[in-house]
Amino acid sequence: YRIAVLASGRGSNLQALLDAIEGGSLPARVVGVFSDKPNCGAIALAREAGIATVALRPRDFADRDAHDEALFSAVAAVQPDLIVCAGYLRIISAASVRRFEGRMINIHPSLLPKYPGLDTHARALAAGDAEHGASVHVVVPELDAGPRLAQVRIPVLPGDDAAGLAARLLPREHALLAATCSLLATRRLDIGGGRVRFDGRDL
Ligand code: GRF
Repeated sequence: YRIAVLASGRGSNLQALLDAIEGGSLPARVVGVFSDKPNCGAIALAREAGIATVALRPRDFADRDAHDEALFSAVAAVQPDLIVCAGYLRIISAASVRRFEGRMINIHPSLLPKYPGLDTHARALAAGDAEHGASVHVVVPELDAGPRLAQVRIPVLPGDDAAGLAARLLPREHALLAATCSLLATRRLDIGGGRVRFDGRDL
């Protein structure tokens, strides 16, 4: 089961997938790591792990579509069964999303449908939420809006600030993403054909 990872940041979610593979709970291989940021942690991590990388700077392309077209052609070339957006911080054009319809998921640090987009931890705190969490969802052209596959929730504690809340959530995010990828890799969970099926039943 071939996984391609898209990332813009430090790459701790990528590391979690590699750890799950190494530990035997995720029967898969990360066949490529793709980024808009050549110097990000995720790319460095992939290089150290001997994984193929392609990082393309948006400013080297005429527009969003041209950048997406180039990056996602590189993704297609590794023939992934699944594309995991793990902190990929660019909006993906509708054409590129459609190209990989039913094969692309994203980890988002909020209890979607609450707080799509950025600054989720600060927004949960500002709203006075008693709980916060993370969601894994199917990628559709609308930002953070696709069918939700799995969520993890944690309490908001007195004295939490955005950084503290993010730090407490992160290990739970990692576990959630690895578990969801395992369900997909073993075909218990199926997101093809515009619907979500679990153990052969429509969700
Ligand atoms: C994670 O919190 C992810 O949910 C968010 O960006 C962060 C990426 O962290 N969208 P990392 O690069 O995987 O460490």
